[in-house]
Amino acid sequence: MSNKKPLLAAVLGNPISHSKSPRMHNYWLKQNKIEGYYIPIKVEDNKLEETIYSLKDMGFSGANVTIPHKVKALDIAHQSSKRAQDIGAANTLTFTEAGSIYADNTDGYGFINNIKSKYTDWIPGRGSSLVLGAGGASRAVVAALLEQGSSDVIVLNRTIERAQELRDKYDKRVRVEKWSSLNEIVATCNNIINTTSLGMNDETAININPEAISEKALISDLVYTPLETNLLKIAKNRKIRFVDGLGMLIHQGVPGFEAWFGKTPLITEDLRELLLQ
Ligand code: ATR
Repeated sequence: MSNKKPLLAAVLGNPISHSKSPRMHNYWLKQNKIEGYYIPIKVEDNKLEETIYSLKDMGFSGANVTIPHKVKALDIAHQSSKRAQDIGAANTLTFTEAGSIYADNTDGYGFINNIKSKYTDWIPGRGSSLVLGAGGASRAVVAALLEQGSSDVIVLNRTIERAQELRDKYDKRVRVEKWSSLNEIVATCNNIINTTSLGMNDETAININPEAISEKALISDLVYTPLETNLLKIAKNRKIRFVDGLGMLIHQGVPGFEAWFGKTPLITEDLRELLLQ
């Protein structure tokens, strides 16, 4: 046995039992032969701050933060990345050697890198992008597309006011259109991204005309249960490029692992299989 203390990290959320992050990080720890543990912790709303400080005091390296704590986690941190500030929420906290809490948001990073790893010639900023949804995941995707040079991002949301709020935050490069114009818009977009929960089952399939989608499009669905949503089935049938939500989930975990455990983890088919069990 070595005398070195095991490295520790956690994921904080409520509920938390469904989280795939513990399985993923513990797989990577084993893969890299690192003595460490990554544990899920269920945290009530009013206990987030004290839990974060307790983990810091106990010597944890950091934590992921998930629903419903992402916005508050950013407030609690002492410093934060520009992308976390732009999104207004954090999913990755690192406890620094100086004793402070640093917040990052890696959702947009996960979104971009998931696509780049499958389609190496993909240029995120080329052409128009359609983002369905206007919640936290949408903000991360919109911020990432803008950061990558997109000059036209169209947001559609069931509640149009939320899409308008998002646009107001981000200048003229973001346009809001009505949900009813979906079939016209998909004909003109290079990127189509579903950040809503639509597609989790047949009843909530996205009502879209498969033939309307541009053949140049690249479709991303952030939903990963099921892995093959109706949107991705359309992409497959039409032989349109696509990526699934599990890939983004895995990629968003990479910066945290690097920060806490000091190694860049590999994304393998074995890991995907493990997370699908
Ligand atoms: P997240 O942080 O995962 O983005 P969220 O902030 O709750 O979660 O946002 C969920 C998104 O899914 C929203 O865009 C929501 O639309 P509304 O703003 O109108 O609520 C969208 N959504 C959820 N259920 C939906 C449904 N049945 N039809 C259309 N959009 C839906």
